[in-house]
Amino acid sequence: MAVETGKQLRHLAVIMDGNGRWAKKHGVARLEGHRAGAEAGKRIIELAGEFGIEYLTLYAFSTENWKRSAEEVNGLMRLLKEFIDYNLQVLQENNIRLRAIGRIAALPDESREALQRGIEQTKNNDGGNLILAINYGGRAEIVDAARKIAVAALNGKINPDELDETTFRDYLYAPDIPDPDLMIRTSGELRLSNFLIWELSYAEFYVTDTLWPDFDREDMAKAVDGFYHRERRYGGRLK
Ligand code: FPP
Repeated sequence: MAVETGKQLRHLAVIMDGNGRWAKKHGVARLEGHRAGAEAGKRIIELAGEFGIEYLTLYAFSTENWKRSAEEVNGLMRLLKEFIDYNLQVLQENNIRLRAIGRIAALPDESREALQRGIEQTKNNDGGNLILAINYGGRAEIVDAARKIAVAALNGKINPDELDETTFRDYLYAPDIPDPDLMIRTSGELRLSNFLIWELSYAEFYVTDTLWPDFDREDMAKAVDGFYHRERRYGGRLK
């Protein structure tokens, strides 16, 4: 069977789900689950390097996560700041550039500043990319792009008749980053949860029952193996 295959796994996107269930299972507070999740975050950054992945996007905080209790939201924001501060050395040692996608301006000052510091200090690294999706929503990203396009049209910089998928993509949060090839979701849920809804159009999905804090090298190897053993068709027909 001759099919169009795009075999290289350059960009991995991850929905890190199950921190709450992990906490419940271990009889600890939800925030302890997120803390364990941050450890798993550190682990996957290193694993991504080992598996030759150039771009790793982690869904750290969604536009919907603000609906959680103030205690959990504040805890997550603090954890994000700590995650960036503690892992800056790991990023530098591994020559990884930190990026962010989402409505970053709306983050609390401390988290936003830590993020901006991390982005600034790693901007010349070229050995890999860690993209944190923070205050990110796929629909919000498309709305933000539409707003920028509307402004450009009003200013006569873009002709609505000439707008196509390629030009639209240029207005998304990180147009220079290739679309994800593989999306991993932990904790078994079969949902996209407003994650990269434009960019994941042709990605392979891998869902595991493993709770995010337990995600380890073995899970990663299974997901990557699964990717390389599946033929990617990009909507093309089998010949
Ligand atoms: C989903 O678990 C996870 C989150 C909402 C937050 C993810 C954030 C971290 C792991 C913090 C560290 C940051 C990085 C960048 C690694 P859930 O609470 O929805 O779990 P549940 O569905 O079991 O309740």
